[in-house]
This record gives sequence, structure tokens and C-alpha cells, in this order.
Amino acid sequence: MMRMVVQSFDEWRAAVRELIARRVAPESVEWTSGLGGGDLFSSAADDLPAAPSTATSTSLRVSRELMDLLDSAACFSACDRWVFLYKVVWRWQLGEHDVISPADPDGARLHAMVKAVHREEHDMHAYVRFRERSEADGAPRFVAWFEPTHEVLPQVAGHFARRMGGITWMIATPSATMMWDGANLHAGPAVMRGPADIDDAGESMWLTYYRSIFNPARLNADLLRSHIPSRFWKNLPEGAIVPQMISAAANGERRTGQTETVGRRAGATTIPISAERAQPQRERPSSLDQCRRCDLWQNATQAVPGVGPKKARVMLVGEQPGDQEDLQGLPFVGPAGALLDKAMDEAGLDRGSIYLTNAVKHFKWELRGKRRLHKTPAQKEISACHLWLEEELERVRPEVIVALGGTALKSVLQDGSATMKSVMDAPFQHEGRWVIAVYHPSYVLRAPDEASRRQAYEVIVDGLRQALRLLKD
Ligand code: URA
Repeated sequence: MMRMVVQSFDEWRAAVRELIARRVAPESVEWTSGLGGGDLFSSAADDLPAAPSTATSTSLRVSRELMDLLDSAACFSACDRWVFLYKVVWRWQLGEHDVISPADPDGARLHAMVKAVHREEHDMHAYVRFRERSEADGAPRFVAWFEPTHEVLPQVAGHFARRMGGITWMIATPSATMMWDGANLHAGPAVMRGPADIDDAGESMWLTYYRSIFNPARLNADLLRSHIPSRFWKNLPEGAIVPQMISAAANGERRTGQTETVGRRAGATTIPISAERAQPQRERPSSLDQCRRCDLWQNATQAVPGVGPKKARVMLVGEQPGDQEDLQGLPFVGPAGALLDKAMDEAGLDRGSIYLTNAVKHFKWELRGKRRLHKTPAQKEISACHLWLEEELERVRPEVIVALGGTALKSVLQDGSATMKSVMDAPFQHEGRWVIAVYHPSYVLRAPDEASRRQAYEVIVDGLRQALRLLKD
């Protein structure tokens, strides 16, 4: 058995190159994380089989995709990660390229590791809190403490370096530290034992700031807790005051609040909903591509925006992109789109004249065999994505919205309890526009027999005809 000591992905990769060249099988290597002190093979060099002659030796060739997966999965904290990743490379090298498919047991584990690491990065972006230090002692001006589950500090530090410009800061974790001197990042060992080691100056300023942005009308305490896992609470400065603010909100303080979007709409200046039903504040990303307001982006190829003329009079809202839409980046280009095209033709509606979009912009799916099967978006995903539909509505200003199915209806009405049954019989007015609710084209495709397929299809065609009639009235 050969023993390899590695402490970083680069070291592991260099070791793997050697091992593959010498055709050392995974069962013959024991990997240890630790301070190797430079020469990877110092403890093992004598055990390594001689490298075969160049004519017969094997060189490591992996795809870009695999290298990216390995790079991310290497940050996953598990004692067997190096063994496992070497096994993946070994299988790839043997021609078993399925090893990176989520349908393969090793591939599934690899993807799960990558997903957990990405999630941790995302959480760290969201929950790192810098505290300003009072002393001008040459130390970084801002310091943060964080306890990540996986080893994502370097990439997260890169994120903050890009965002914070010339301001100096340090992020400390139980096992490492990253420091930004305004121009360069420096990795170092652990230097703090916990948040108490941070100079407390500046804390009161942070709490004042947090109080000022807190809006009880947007508060849903359970959601807030479920969105900020409890392991983060204890290190958030605002953690100490949030319980007070939650109870003040529950006791009626500013119970009726105002949101930016509702406030801008004619005739509605307050939200007639209780604090409990409101959603927590989410970040407002600068573009759809950068949207991380829910988790769906993680498994989607890309976000799929709406398409159509700048000022279309009719907007069709679907549920979410399907497999084809996800790959092509365009709405309704798969089987449901083909059926919709047929219905539009029959109703006399020209696809080029309408705006076509979805309530949710990322494809939500689950793997069945080798196929990605559509999964209905959850209400929290519909709500998170509503921002983008709202933006499209404000920009395009359609006179008629056709909601294709229940998810679209919930998003258009911003009401998670809206049902198709209650509104499907006739067009109705909502916020100054006509809304028509019809079945989703996939509902037609899934209908059990020809008669119900035909009946559901006619409902769609009728709805589209009604949309045209409303424009003429
Ligand atoms: N289903 C939808 O709701 N939208 C699409 O874009 C494709 C299928």
C-alpha cells in the first residue's frame, strides 16, 4: 500500500498524474490530508513502482467537465475524498466515461459533493458578516468569522476580493484564514478561535444598519429561519436582535408595510396581507443569469428569459423551461411548444406578435434513468422568480395575459392558493389587465385518452381566441 499526503487539489492532481502514469490502482493507494511539506512523494517515493517507458506509460487525459467537477468536489470535507476522486479518475481513464453521469453511483456521489460545495459557497457569500475594527494598527479594516462545512474559503475570498475593491479585510475560519490587503489575497493558517476574538468596535453601527433595513411586513419568521440555517444564526451579529424584532412585528409594529413593487402600482399603496404571509427579503440580482434567489439555478443549464416584441399586447406565461428549453435557452421550443404553436395557429394568433415567457426561469428536474424529468416548482421558487415576471410585465405592458396552467396563474396573481378551477371559465381583470387562465400544453400531452386530450386542447384554443377578441374590444 502506498501512502500519499496531500493538502490541496493541486497537490492531489500532481500525485494523480504520477500514479496514473505508473498505473497504480486505487486499491493500492492510501491518501491522507495533511501538511506534506513540499515533496508529495517523499514518504512514498520508494514504494512507487518505476514509471513504464514513455512508449508504454499512460498520461492523464480528462475532460474539462470532469476537471471542473473534481476541482469543486475536492473542497468537500470527507475523509475519503481523495480516495474517491482518484477512483473516479481511474475509471475515466479506463474509458468508463459514465462515471461523471448522475445516473452512475460514483457519478451521483460526485455531483452530490459538487452541489454541497456550491451550496456552501453560496451560503458563505450570503452569511459572512464583516465587522469593522477600530484600531488603525495595520491590521485589516474588516474582519469576519465563519465556520464553513466544506473547504470553500479560497473561492469565497475571491468573490469578496472582486467586490470590495481596495478595502482591506480578513475572513477567519477554524482551520484557515484569507486576507485581502487591497491588492492581493493571502492564505494563512487559523489565527482566531471564534468571533469573540474580533474587535467589537463597529458592532453597534452594524446593528443599527440591520434594524433600519428590517421590514416586518416582509417577515415570515419560519421561512426566515428555514432560509438561514440555525448553524449560521449564532455567528450573525443580527442574530441577537432578530428574535426581538420578530416579536415586535408579531405584536403589530408596522404590520402593514409597503414593498417597492406594490407601492409603485396605481391604486395600491399598502399590502393587505399579514406579516406571516409575506416573503423574506431576497437579494435583487443585477441580471437573470446571476439570479440565486432560489436553488434552481444550480441544476439548470441556463436561465431562460421571455421572448417577444418589446411592446406585445398579449403575454403568454408558462410554468418553467423544459429539457429542450433549458438546453436552447428559449421558451417553448420542445413538445409543449409544438402543441402551443398548433393551438396559436388554430386561434389565429401569430407567435411573432406575442411575448412568451415562464413563471419560473430555471428548469427544475429530477433524474429518471438517463432522462431529466420535469418537476413542478414549489411555491417558494415561484415567489422567488416572480421578480422577473414583474420586470417583464412592467417592460412589455401587455393588455392580456394568458396563464398556461396553475403555476403561471399563481405567479401572475401572486397568490399561492389560486386555483385554475375558480377562474377558468371567463377572462377577468387583475391589476388593470385581462387575465385568461387555460390548461398548460403539457396537460394536454399527458391526458389519458383522445377525448380528454381534445377537450383540454380546445380550452387552450378558446382562451387564445378570447385573448384576440379582448384586443379588438
Ligand atoms: N413548458 C413551459 O411551461 N414552458 C416552456 O418553456 C416549455 C415547457
